[in-house]
Amino acid sequence: MRIDVFTLFPAMFLGPLQESILKRAQERGTLAIYLHQIRDYAFDRHQMTDDLPYGGGQGMVMRPEPIFRAVQSVIGAAPTPIVLLSPQGRQFTQAIARDLAQEPRLAFICGHYEGIDERVREHLVTDELSIGDYVLTGGELAAMVVIDAVARFVPGVLGADEGAEDDSYASGLLEGPQYTRPATFGPWEVPAILRSGNHAAVARWQRRMALKRTLERRPDLLQQATLSDEDGRTLTEISADLTEPDAG
Ligand code: ADE
Repeated sequence: MRIDVFTLFPAMFLGPLQESILKRAQERGTLAIYLHQIRDYAFDRHQMTDDLPYGGGQGMVMRPEPIFRAVQSVIGAAPTPIVLLSPQGRQFTQAIARDLAQEPRLAFICGHYEGIDERVREHLVTDELSIGDYVLTGGELAAMVVIDAVARFVPGVLGADEGAEDDSYASGLLEGPQYTRPATFGPWEVPAILRSGNHAAVARWQRRMALKRTLERRPDLLQQATLSDEDGRTLTEISADLTEPDAG
């Protein structure tokens, strides 16, 4: 997958994109990420990328010309979703990450200052995403979040044993507790069932714990999750346990 990022602050991306899994994916050629400085596409001598808002109001607004020029000269006619990051976008989710990962190319425009000229939204951008109901200083951190979540679904980015399809949210449930060695750490033991070697019993326990955690922390997710009849019975049992007053 090829990703083009249009930003006034390309240096913000250098740390996050040059470590760990994203670094490895770029070295292998599974992922190619290009950073473009919007300022380089400004027409005027002062390379102005922002200006006062028409109608008055606080702060500066990003001018449309450098952004159009940058995106059009880099993307050309290649069919590419052009995603604006802004708090006004639709809420980014794991399902959107999976959809975007199907595209051979993606482009991200990072908004800054008080906003971006509306003509960018109307005539250039094809999608607008928000990563949550809070306001960041700019779209850069949001773009990194989206790139990271999308990259996990690009074939070859994760190793064979770390597929994006079996983690939290992919199944529609939160993951249950995980343990590693030592089996005994101070007074705390790893649950015996995990060490029993009984794979079917372990799988049932893990499913039960995932259902329990989701019910306790994010009951809203259960509405969308794909649940079996067995899951339904387990949830009924867990709810009964949770509502019963402590015996003893
Ligand atoms: N820019 C500023 N805040 C943002 C948010 N929550 N999501 C995406 N882009 C943003």
